[in-house]
Amino acid sequence: MFKSAREPTTEEGLQYHVHLKPGDVPRYVLLPGDPGRVPLIASVWDRSRLVAEHRGFVTYAGTYKGVELAATSTGIGGPSTAIVVEELLRVGADTFIRVGTTGALQEYVKLGDLVISSAAVRLDGTSRVYADPEYPAAASYDVLLALIEAAESLGVRYHVGVTASSDSFYVGQGRPGFRGYLPDKWRGIERRLAELNVLNFEMEAATLFVLASIYGARAGAVCAAIANRVTDEFDPRAGITDLVRVANEAVRILYEWDAVRELRGKRYLSVRLISEILRREQYKG
Ligand code: URA
Repeated sequence: MFKSAREPTTEEGLQYHVHLKPGDVPRYVLLPGDPGRVPLIASVWDRSRLVAEHRGFVTYAGTYKGVELAATSTGIGGPSTAIVVEELLRVGADTFIRVGTTGALQEYVKLGDLVISSAAVRLDGTSRVYADPEYPAAASYDVLLALIEAAESLGVRYHVGVTASSDSFYVGQGRPGFRGYLPDKWRGIERRLAELNVLNFEMEAATLFVLASIYGARAGAVCAAIANRVTDEFDPRAGITDLVRVANEAVRILYEWDAVRELRGKRYLSVRLISEILRREQYKG
């Protein structure tokens, strides 16, 4: 039985949309938009199990190289992403990595390259419900760094920079709508953002970053470029294997950094701490 309309959870803490309760997921959760990508992400784990599946929100939990993690699909766009983040926070998750696909706005970002977001332009509607437009949508620096480290260590092509997040795939990203409908406001938006050195368009990072920041959680985003809006190419499979490898590896790296940081009683990750971890690894190796 659900408690109330205001608080739609059961006495055990089961969440209405994601069908998860406290203890079902660890602190690290990967967030693909596509439910079909959840088993793909989990396919490289040591062990995994389907924990919940409800209204398109699919969750697997397991371990990757000994580190406990989960993956939950957010669906497309800010509204459903906010629901998932709200409910995952309530069951104990606090570190999120969006694992998505994206349209590159710069010619040099080739199909299959990964884009790691340092921040997001808030063209979504949902984050405005939570905070005024002046409030930043920034990735957590330690999650961002773990993603960069993962991409470096795996030797994949990647870029780091500002992303634009829209609640609209077609008109809001400057693509003609049905019968060519495209209001002036959105005509050429992809070129105007490119001039501002924005790397890519996607649909969830800004909402995720704003919510994580408000709630004191951590968030990052990595996306595979399946489209290039300058060259007008599109391949929905480009970069997906690298995407999955980098996201999982970033969780492992972050786990190691968190463990040493907590052991040292530090609140923040620093270059000093990372150097200590590297020295230890050299010693072990
Ligand atoms: N996802 C988006 O939001 N836009 C694209 O162009 C490709 C993937």
